[in-house]
Amino acid sequence: MKVRKDVYGLPKGDTTLEWYEKAVALMKTRDTSDPTSWAYLGAIHGISPNPQWNYYWSQYAPFPPKTETDGFWERCQHQSWYFLPWHRMYLAYFEQIVAQAIVELGGPDDWALPFWNYCDTENPLALDIPEAFTTPADSSNNLWMPNRHNQVDRSSVTLKALKKKIYTTSPQETGYGGPETKFNHSGGSNGALESYPHNHVHVDIGGAMGNPDTAGLDPIFWLHHANIDRLWQVWLNEGEGRSNPDEKNWLNFKFNFHDKDKQAVTLTPKEVEDTRKVLSGYTYEGVAPSAPGAVTKAAKGAVAGRKMAVMPLEIVDATQKAQALTAQPSRVSLSLSAKKASRKSAKTVSKQEGGKRMMLRFENIKGTGLVPVQSVYLEIPGEDGIPQAYLAGSLALFGLERASTADEHHSGSGLSEHLDITELVNSLQDSGKFNADKLDVLIQSNRPMPNESSVSVGKISLYSE
Ligand code: C2O
Repeated sequence: MKVRKDVYGLPKGDTTLEWYEKAVALMKTRDTSDPTSWAYLGAIHGISPNPQWNYYWSQYAPFPPKTETDGFWERCQHQSWYFLPWHRMYLAYFEQIVAQAIVELGGPDDWALPFWNYCDTENPLALDIPEAFTTPADSSNNLWMPNRHNQVDRSSVTLKALKKKIYTTSPQETGYGGPETKFNHSGGSNGALESYPHNHVHVDIGGAMGNPDTAGLDPIFWLHHANIDRLWQVWLNEGEGRSNPDEKNWLNFKFNFHDKDKQAVTLTPKEVEDTRKVLSGYTYEGVAPSAPGAVTKAAKGAVAGRKMAVMPLEIVDATQKAQALTAQPSRVSLSLSAKKASRKSAKTVSKQEGGKRMMLRFENIKGTGLVPVQSVYLEIPGEDGIPQAYLAGSLALFGLERASTADEHHSGSGLSEHLDITELVNSLQDSGKFNADKLDVLIQSNRPMPNESSVSVGKISLYSE
């Protein structure tokens, strides 16, 4: 059984990354039509509509005809309850293929994919892409990629998603794993883990990693996803009723891949729930594996009951027209007392009763190009009347362009995001400066907005219990 280890915990002299680099070099020499080539594996995730003109893709030309790759390329599952199982399958075959390339090169026969734990607050280097991927910073190093930011933001890698107790998004609450969907390549609402840290890490790094159509070409992609895959098991281990979906549509959905022998194969989420049973099996260093269904019925009942007790959120106010996000900060004003019926409840929010839940929703976010992480603040007048901004959260729009384009797999209606602002509003109300009639929302780009990028939010709305 393989053990996937923390890349920052590898002992001095360990050769895991050296062999990885050699395997990438070898796989890059293989034909793009070869299922064990670097390009083919990247294209399973996504490929640009015109790869011959795409900066990251053009070097892999010529490309096989679409009829040959149909059903195998552009398969990644996002904004979907298949997000976790699909990427687990994808990683498993990738690891198998890299391991075989390493054996072919005369290396060890037990290579396992390491994970990059950027969430580790005890490791001072955790936020940095490991050095083997950045030095030397040129194409002699097959783990290096141009145009990356080599560090992610601390605020991007919070583990607040782990607090979610349900897997599947419900009308009342975003689930850890995402909303129930059919095959969903891109578009819609993210599950909690997909927003933080998954999408934030992609967008922070940028370059090829910033777009699902090129992300699979960056060797760091796979260490990022090993960490996301590890966090699936970490979440299950938190207990208190946490469990995977038991619906047939989730358990038995078949996804296509190729194995190391270039044979077409399928896997279902049910077949990958226990990491020890995925292909030849693996576990994560420091994380206990578990069999599916380890959760007792009673615990499940408790979660269902808790779900019932949550009051649905109602829309209180919304913007009337699309809001473009530009290089300059954008502001919109919403009112917690806009809707008469909600007036009373909005005014009675207090810490003592645990606070009414409140949420900002961003819908039909559409755009082109790479868009940096957008920070969202609530602004209220300070001591001297000068507005003070309080961070409510941020939007990492990974897959924006794809989700904005209508084609055979996408409706083109863009991405949706939401931020829970319950705690922030509670603390602002306690400070006494909060005006429920005028809630100013400020959106600001964390990094300069590239000239060729554009983004707009169709609707920004405020929800409250
Ligand atoms: Cu399918 Cu991190 O992306």
